[in-house]
Amino acid sequence: MRLVLLGPPGAGKGTQASAIISKYSIPHISTGDIFRENIKKGTDLGKQVEAYMNKGLLVPDELVVSIVKDRLTKEDCKEGFLLDGFPRTVNQAEALDEELKNMNLKLDKVINIKVGKDILIERAIGRRICKNCGATFHIKFNPPKEENVCDKCGGELHQRDDDTVETVEKRIEVYHEQTKPLIDYYDKKGLLLNVDGSKPVEEVFNEIIASLEGDF
Ligand code: AP5
Ligand code: MG
Ligand code: ZN
Repeated sequence: MRLVLLGPPGAGKGTQASAIISKYSIPHISTGDIFRENIKKGTDLGKQVEAYMNKGLLVPDELVVSIVKDRLTKEDCKEGFLLDGFPRTVNQAEALDEELKNMNLKLDKVINIKVGKDILIERAIGRRICKNCGATFHIKFNPPKEENVCDKCGGELHQRDDDTVETVEKRIEVYHEQTKPLIDYYDKKGLLLNVDGSKPVEEVFNEIIASLEGDF
């Protein structure tokens, strides 16, 4: 299954992605995670993207597109993939279409997770991530058993550098300007599935699966 997860910052894309990929055994391709990994390792790419991310701005299309193109040719993408946070501009969506066409492939569905602004800010600000294994928690909605300690590996939890109120507001603004047009783009192609992302995690997941399986 070849899927795209669309939605504003903090909507729950990463959270739903982990459940979807384990159900369908497909790789999770999150451009945000790829960039954060590169920043952590201090690579050239990490150095190029860090300032954009910390300001809540999008990384230039040409940097993102080449990374995704390269990733899609890997062996583990043969039976499908889940793109999370890509595409984010119409340019990126067109580049993805072209690449998939070259590979003789098509997207199956684009899942649009809809959540209102107040909830988004609360979710992003309360998010905590494990420094060691990347597991995601929330101080209110999904708290770890022990404060600041990962349930899965015992690692220390931290906040993402771009999860400040100011940067989250900027990311939401950028989403409205540059990413929201993709809802129309994929709707016109008949690929869009809208999901109410304001409900609890499991309910959102069940809705995603129900709408996907209704189609397959
Ligand atoms: P990216 O990492 O993609 O961030 P984002 O799109 O802003 O989305 P988030 O990861 O913040 O939120 P999410 O939807 O994954 O929510 P999560 O599941 O964690 O991108 C970061 C940056 O990288 C961009 O700003 C840009 O600079 C750059 N970038 C990345 N891709 C790019 C591209 N294609 N082009 C250009 N630049 C790019 O959930 C959030 C919190 O809420 C968690 O704490 C979670 O536990 C909680 N939660 C989740 N679901 C629920 C629920 N249903 N109920 C209650 N709590 C919930
Ligand atoms: Mg995410
Ligand atoms: Zn961990």
